[in-house]
Amino acid sequence: MNATHDDAPLLTVEGLSKTFGGIKAVQDIDFQVNRGEVFGLIGPNGAGKTTCFNLITGFYTPTTGRVAFQGHDITGHSPYRIARRGLVRSFQKTNVLKPLTVFENVLAGHYLSARQSLLATFFPTAPVRRAEREARDNAARLVTLLDLGARMDTPAYRLSCGELRLLEVAVALAAQPTLLMLDEPAAGLNSQEAMRFGGILKRLRREQVPSIVIVEHNMSLVMDVSDRVMVMDFGRKLAEGKPAEVKNNPQVVEAYLGRARA
Ligand SMILES: Nc1ncnc2c1ncn2[C@@H]1O[C@H](COP(=O)(O)OP(=O)(O)OP(=O)(O)O)[C@@H](O)[C@H]1O
Ligand SMILES: [Mg+2]
Repeated sequence: MNATHDDAPLLTVEGLSKTFGGIKAVQDIDFQVNRGEVFGLIGPNGAGKTTCFNLITGFYTPTTGRVAFQGHDITGHSPYRIARRGLVRSFQKTNVLKPLTVFENVLAGHYLSARQSLLATFFPTAPVRRAEREARDNAARLVTLLDLGARMDTPAYRLSCGELRLLEVAVALAAQPTLLMLDEPAAGLNSQEAMRFGGILKRLRREQVPSIVIVEHNMSLVMDVSDRVMVMDFGRKLAEGKPAEVKNNPQVVEAYLGRARA
């Protein structure tokens, strides 16, 4: 698992578990994400999806298990170190700074991957000034890519719910991820907005970041954009496969319908 190969899976999760007091939030989860793949992670409320994200991206330390990214063991590394490697996640609760404009928010996201020192910021040399210009160009490009060009200089607090979701993705993209992990990026969107969001995700995949892990409750969106889907229930993996296989899995149907009846 420590060997680094270009052909190593992008993300490998082995025997991952997390216990909070008596709650087994995540239990013995294994999966891999390949390069160029969109991997959907679904499951009822409380299934352990966000905890998985937190374990993979260093916000929680696993009780047991291992996480490798591009062949490097990253288990227990800090979120910052993991993000610098190219594994970047969005949050179920917003990562947007409401008083800043759309452009400023995306520019702030860029500094997660920037290597320049504070001293260089105050006494900029020519390369620092060039990096600053590139960051600004890149931020403007990302805002446009996410269809927010008309809102570039609008403070985030004035955005609609749908625009805010798009801005959250742009902020995560500004850190230049190799693998982007999105936790409920379409939460609160109506079905029309979610469909538009799906179209933008497909564009991102073509033009910006080919590998994405997405947690999402909107089934038509997640089934439409994902190459493979993993289903969690009560912390465990219930099923994994192509969207059509997973959709027709009786255990998966029972997990969703059973919970809806409860
Ligand atoms: N920091 C924590 N301390 C204690 N329990 C936690 C903590 N984080 C998560 N849990 C518990 O772990 C379980 C899994 O929660 P998690 O947030 O991962 O679920 P989820 O699948 O993301 O749900 P949702 O779809 O509602 O976002 C839940 O029972 C939750 O209450
Ligand atoms: Mg969650």
